[in-house]
Amino acid sequence: MMKSSNLQKTLKKSEQYLPAEDTFFLADHLEGLSGDSALDIGCGSGYLTDILKSTFRLVVGTDISFNTLVEQNFKTQNVICCNSADALNLDFDVIICNLPYLATDEIIDVATDGGKDGLEIPQKIISSALPHLSKQGKFLFVTSSLSDYMGLIDFVQSKNFKAKIIDRKKLFYEELIIVEVKHLLS
Ligand SMILES: C[S@@+](CC[C@H](N)C(=O)[O-])C[C@H]1O[C@@H](n2cnc3c(N)ncnc32)[C@H](O)[C@@H]1O
Repeated sequence: MMKSSNLQKTLKKSEQYLPAEDTFFLADHLEGLSGDSALDIGCGSGYLTDILKSTFRLVVGTDISFNTLVEQNFKTQNVICCNSADALNLDFDVIICNLPYLATDEIIDVATDGGKDGLEIPQKIISSALPHLSKQGKFLFVTSSLSDYMGLIDFVQSKNFKAKIIDRKKLFYEELIIVEVKHLLS
């Protein structure tokens, strides 16, 4: 567990994650999604939250970086600075997250670093998100071949949810992977 003084240093240093290949790849999968409520975890610039706004009545974005939320390029009405969905008391039809998935020894940049095997932070985010997925809901997250993505899928399944890879995209240095999570009985 990171000491709070170190966490503050990490957050101060962090800057807004500008939309990148992984953002656009997840954006492609938002087409056709609609419903009452959607949650964008780790919303960063607000690029994806902004897309969800057109087809959902209520859209909430969360991010652990306060500075990121203050500086958002795509301003979102409902943003909360917290770990994943920890501060929320609501279920969502759709949850999305472009995870910080890089395998790293420590968390220097909260926007990208996932900790050991790229699992530590994603597991923390997913554990917090799953209880907020409505019964017929869908949770989409982006991960990568640069992390132990099969370990992450096993982790989700161990929580009694269905998880499957629905798309892959090869880049020069990695393969982006989109995982869809649903309740077992949905
Ligand atoms: C890869 S960036 C994605 C940003 C944006 N969603 C996008 O796709 O362009 C990951 C974001 O997750 C945020 N983040 C990291 N750890 C988090 C956590 N435990 N809870 C909430 N947000 C977190 C970071 O601050 C960063 O904005």
